[in-house]
Amino acid sequence: MDTPTFNTFNSFPRFNLLDGPTNIQSLTRLNKQLNGVEVYVKRDDVMGMGLGGNKLRKLEYLIADAKQQGADVLITSGGIQSNHARLTAVAAGYAGLDYELVLTHAVPLEGLEHDKNGNILLEQILGAKVHNLPKGTDAKIFIEDRINTLKASGKKPYLISLGGSSAIGCLGYVNCFNEIIGQSNQSGVHFSNIIVPNGSGGTQAGLVAGLKLSGLSNISILSYSVLSQLTTAQAITHKKANAVLNLLNPELKIGQDEILIDPHFIGEAYGIPTTAMIGAVKLLARTEGIFLDPVYSGKAFAGLLADIHAGKFTKGDKTLFILTGGIPGLFAYRSAFEE
Ligand SMILES: Cc1ncc(COP(=O)(O)O)c(C=O)c1O
Repeated sequence: MDTPTFNTFNSFPRFNLLDGPTNIQSLTRLNKQLNGVEVYVKRDDVMGMGLGGNKLRKLEYLIADAKQQGADVLITSGGIQSNHARLTAVAAGYAGLDYELVLTHAVPLEGLEHDKNGNILLEQILGAKVHNLPKGTDAKIFIEDRINTLKASGKKPYLISLGGSSAIGCLGYVNCFNEIIGQSNQSGVHFSNIIVPNGSGGTQAGLVAGLKLSGLSNISILSYSVLSQLTTAQAITHKKANAVLNLLNPELKIGQDEILIDPHFIGEAYGIPTTAMIGAVKLLARTEGIFLDPVYSGKAFAGLLADIHAGKFTKGDKTLFILTGGIPGLFAYRSAFEE
């Protein structure tokens, strides 16, 4: 039998996009309403570059990988209001790489605020090359054709998968897990639960892989899905978690039962506002001065609040919510917040 090879985490190249560890803060005002459960937030929404967000962590590893492979143009896709697309544009520009964004009508919303404001406005300012696909176009086929065209013209394209959630991209959240443990060891605040939104699954997958590598058994990682129903979300996240773990230690495996996902706060569909999301966004803004986003962190935080009020979290437990960014999305959902 071949001896498995182990890669140390630091052997993967990283292109620096963050300013350093993101802050962890206690929600001291809101916590007074939470029956003794203590919620903290990790501010992955506060980063110096491009208005920040979880995708920058993945892009640190994706851009380094693209550069190592000699690529000169990045291509990625997402919905019209994709935070990942905006941050790919920001990071590629900073890294001196060309890039193309393939945007789809992933959300059944239309009108000026959704189609022209928020991330789209920022991409306009960035001068991004955007392919706005008409409804019904197969993005996969379009991207394949585009990659072939770029190659034929002598370019070296690098495809970044949906949400940046390839095994390489997920390294960003293995890194985040290690960062959290380092911060906990320094502050003495140890978390029983880490909570994230789940879209393409890469954020949770990286954290779960980080947890497995750490050997710690007293932390649960739970996500609230904002896109897929339980079976699909769990299968996708499980596959990605093992793919990233395999890069680091192929002897370890993550079981499907280690992927904890709550699908009950998606609402009607991905990107469609829910009453609970609107309530959670307003509550956190009004108590703590912190803005959640309407598509990801807003729905996940609504789930966390509901589950705390339903008694699903134990009194005295310290819970860390990773605030994954996406604030520009608020400007694309103006009418949802009208009172
Ligand atoms: C702001 C924000 N939060 C959370 C997520 C979900 O992360 P993941 O796709 O890794 O599950 C995304 C992904 O698009 C996002 O833009």
